[in-house]
This record gives sequence, C-alpha cells and structure tokens, in this order.
Amino acid sequence: MAMQLIIRRPDDWHLHFRDGAMMERVVPFTARQFERAIVMPNLVPPVTSIHAAREYRKRIMAAVPDGMSFTPLMTAYLTDNISADEVETGHRDGVWTAAKLYPAGATTNSDSAVTDVANLHGVLDRMEAIGMPLCVHGEVTGSDVDVFDREARFIDEILLPLIAIFPDLKVVFEHITTKDAVDFVLSAPANVAATITPQHLMLNRNALFEGGLRPHAYCLPVVKRERHRLAVRAAATSGDPKFFLGTDSAPHPRHAKESACGCAGIFNAPHALECYAQVFEEEGVLDRLEGFASEHGPAFYGLPLNEGTVTLEKVDNVIPDMIENGDDPLVPFRAGQTIPWKFVG
Ligand code: DOR
Ligand code: ZN
Repeated sequence: MAMQLIIRRPDDWHLHFRDGAMMERVVPFTARQFERAIVMPNLVPPVTSIHAAREYRKRIMAAVPDGMSFTPLMTAYLTDNISADEVETGHRDGVWTAAKLYPAGATTNSDSAVTDVANLHGVLDRMEAIGMPLCVHGEVTGSDVDVFDREARFIDEILLPLIAIFPDLKVVFEHITTKDAVDFVLSAPANVAATITPQHLMLNRNALFEGGLRPHAYCLPVVKRERHRLAVRAAATSGDPKFFLGTDSAPHPRHAKESACGCAGIFNAPHALECYAQVFEEEGVLDRLEGFASEHGPAFYGLPLNEGTVTLEKVDNVIPDMIENGDDPLVPFRAGQTIPWKFVG
C-alpha cells in the first residue's frame, strides 16, 4: 500500500476565483483540498463595497459542489477613496476577513487600486484599531524599476515606513519571492507574516526561459534567482508560524497566457497541496507541512483550526496537459509532469 500522509484540513490564505463561468469551473478544485480561502477582490469591477462582497460570496457558495464543505473569506479591494467606515462595517458584520492593498498598476485588475499609500492612512488606522488584517501585494510599480527588484524596493520604500506608522497593524506580505522579503518578515514583529506559493518554492527565473519563452511560469511577483527561491523555501519549511500557505492560484484561459502580451498568473489549485508536500518532503520536513498548511494561518488570523483531515498518497501523479474550460482550456501548474504525491480526499 502507498505511504499516506494525513494532516488537518488546510486553508488557502491567498486565492483568485474570478467570476462567472470561470469561477464555477475553478471553485471545486479549491473546495476539494481546502476548507477556507482568502478570496482576492481583483474582479472587473473590483470588490470595493460590502454589497459587492456579499453578492460575490453568494456566487462562490453556489459554485461549491454538493457534499463539499468550503467557506470563502472575502477581502475588500482598497482604493484611494474607500471609506474607513465601509471597511470597518464590513469587517464587523463578518463580510470581510481582510482588506487587500494593490499598488495601482502592479498586477491584473489593479488599475483602480491605491496610487499612494498616504491616501490610505485613515483606513489603516481604523484597521489597526479593530485588528483587521491587511493583505499586501508587495511590489513598487515604476516602469523605471527593474521588474526583479520591485519586491525588495517595496520593502524599503513602503513596508518599513508603513509598519513604523502602524506598529500593531496585522500585515500579510503576500506571495513573497525574495530573501529580502524573508529577512524583512523575520525581523518584523509577530503581527507581520507572509504567504508562500508553490511556484515560488519550485521555480527560479530560469523556468521562464527554459528552451523558449514559458508563459505558464509567469506570475507576479515574477519568480526570482535561485538564491531567493532557496531562502523562500527555507522560510516555508522552517516551522516558523510567520509563514503560511497561500497558493495565489490565478487562472487565465490558455489564449490569454499564450499571447504576445500574456497575463500574469499560475493556475495551481487542482494539485496545490501535492506540490507543497513535494517541497516539504524534499527538505526532509514532511512533519512541518501541517503547521504551514493548516495551523499558522488560522493562528495569525485569529480563526479556529479546521476539524477533519485530508489524506495524500505517495504515488506518481500525472498532471494533465490541460483542464477543460468551455472553449478555452486552463493549463495547470506543472502540466504534463509527474509529481510524487496525490490528494485522495
Ligand atoms: O500572477 C498574478 N496573477 N499575480 C497577481 O498579483 C494577480 C494574479 C491575477 O489576478 O491574475
Ligand atoms: Zn494574487
């Protein structure tokens, strides 16, 4: 019989579901593996009101297959002029678990986001007071800044000043990709944490150019040099509760990825947990996967641990080349490859 790994049912602390038919297609993949997910608000139009978040949550719930247990945790898309009252009321009423800071122009559907963090000071002050977490896409946006330096520059120019002004604000530095980010999180107080994706644990920037241009390895923040990948991997597998699972699964139809101007985003939801298991096993710390996947996130957010377990088996798992999606398929992370773990339920 294959070796089994059984862990407490995990959560995904950073995820894109999209909307409409795409949402209906992708929700079951996440609901199968995860009990909860922090759902990103970068729809068109973005989720900037309590009403929009309630309606979006209903649509997600309607897409959860019968018999699966899943709770979407919604986020507010911060803009230059969102009101602190709206943010606070949505949090108090249990609609918004967190709020998301996208620097305007940093990534997919971020054009109407925050042009200057100074415009958010009133909102952040309120969030700090009520203990509402801030999720941060940590990249500066200037076209003069090298794309591989944008995360490191964000730490110096935005994050360090931010946590000095709001020392008690809960901050999740999302999808970290650099040693700089690891060092920053380690040196910051306990109210600053980070999520880590499978792709940033498994790929370095060579993956973008392996035998030709590889659009399915392209996401933002872009994958970095090997030394950064190793630092992020060491952080994820260290057992430190400041680091937890966030897939940043971000589906785009195949034609939008394989294009002269391909979209950023990697669709890893169908076998995310298996990818993390592979990394933890390679590092010889499979016993730490449960903390990273199922315990550190709830502890940071102040939410209960999930009941129940999930089971992975150590068997060859061939990832399909494509996943059917109407007339434009999705290409999953690690398409066509064989990975050593399989989620069995
Ligand atoms: O690669 C990414 N895709 N990074 C993001 O920050 C956004 C996401 C998306 O929404 O496609
Ligand atoms: Zn994201």
